Amino acid sequence: MPGIIITGRGGAGKTTIASNLGVYFTREEGLDTVVIDGDLFLPKLAFHFGIYNPVVNLHSILKDPKANPFSAVYRDPKTGVYIVPGSSNIYDVLHLDPRNMARVVSEYRRRYNMTIVDSPVGIPFDTLSTFNLVEYQLIVLELERSPIYSFKRMLENELIKLKALGEEFGLKVGVVINKVREARGDLDEVMDFIEDVVKVPVLGIISFDSNVPLASNYGTPVLAKFPRTQASRDLLELGENLATWTLGKKHHKKSKWSEYGHSIMEIIHRVIHWS
Ligand SMILES: Nc1ncnc2c1ncn2[C@@H]1O[C@H](COP(=O)(O)OP(=O)(O)OP(=O)(O)O)[C@@H](O)[C@H]1O
Ligand SMILES: [Mg+2]
Repeated sequence: MPGIIITGRGGAGKTTIASNLGVYFTREEGLDTVVIDGDLFLPKLAFHFGIYNPVVNLHSILKDPKANPFSAVYRDPKTGVYIVPGSSNIYDVLHLDPRNMARVVSEYRRRYNMTIVDSPVGIPFDTLSTFNLVEYQLIVLELERSPIYSFKRMLENELIKLKALGEEFGLKVGVVINKVREARGDLDEVMDFIEDVVKVPVLGIISFDSNVPLASNYGTPVLAKFPRTQASRDLLELGENLATWTLGKKHHKKSKWSEYGHSIMEIIHRVIHWS
């Protein structure tokens, strides 16, 4: 069953997307889904599920080769998502060899139907050893309020590098654009650039929505906490596109973003074309 690694720049929304995809694949696709916090220096995934200072965690498993990797898996009672949290203690990070992650993640891959690995910012050195174990890389982009010319420069800086990295490991690469504001008028141009020039499919566009951080404060991903808000509807659509991409499932819902000229069918067509 599939494995997806989530990458992108600092604060783009990697952990938010990873946790909500955990909810999507568990609830909507009925898959036993594990989400692993691969950000060894600044792990934050557990906060999204209201887990604070877990005693057994990814760090303790990585440190002790004899430890049972499943003792670091927590099942969130509200959503049913399986979570592998990290440790916030700096002394747990020192002298840790991130290459041990491959051994642990391959164990999880055998047990769960869907594996999602949340990465640290930029070139994800912590999770690099797991690139061999998954099939997909989802790059999270945040456009902020940058004009199109600086966006293209930003793409050259990060998207092209991350795409090359994924392809080096034979991964299929897709993009999700996060924190998009309604007023943004150049989305069509941005998407055309990503898809036609960089040649990566855009699998989702997530609105900027203050309910996202609010839900995290409650310790529940927004898709579970506030399912009817705009960001949740967008995340659902991202999940459906990812299900098509990774599981070959067909979903036929019409996209709110079709006003920008990209219906869900178009996106699915592009996904199939690229996969
Ligand atoms: N669609 C959204 N709308 C509004 N806020 C969002 C959205 N997505 C994420 N955020 C907020 O942006 C902040 C950064 O999100 P998140 O921690 O998921 O990013 P990250 O890429 O994992 O960051 P880091 O590089 O630090 O690991 C959080 O406060 C989160 O609640
Ligand atoms: Mg993060």
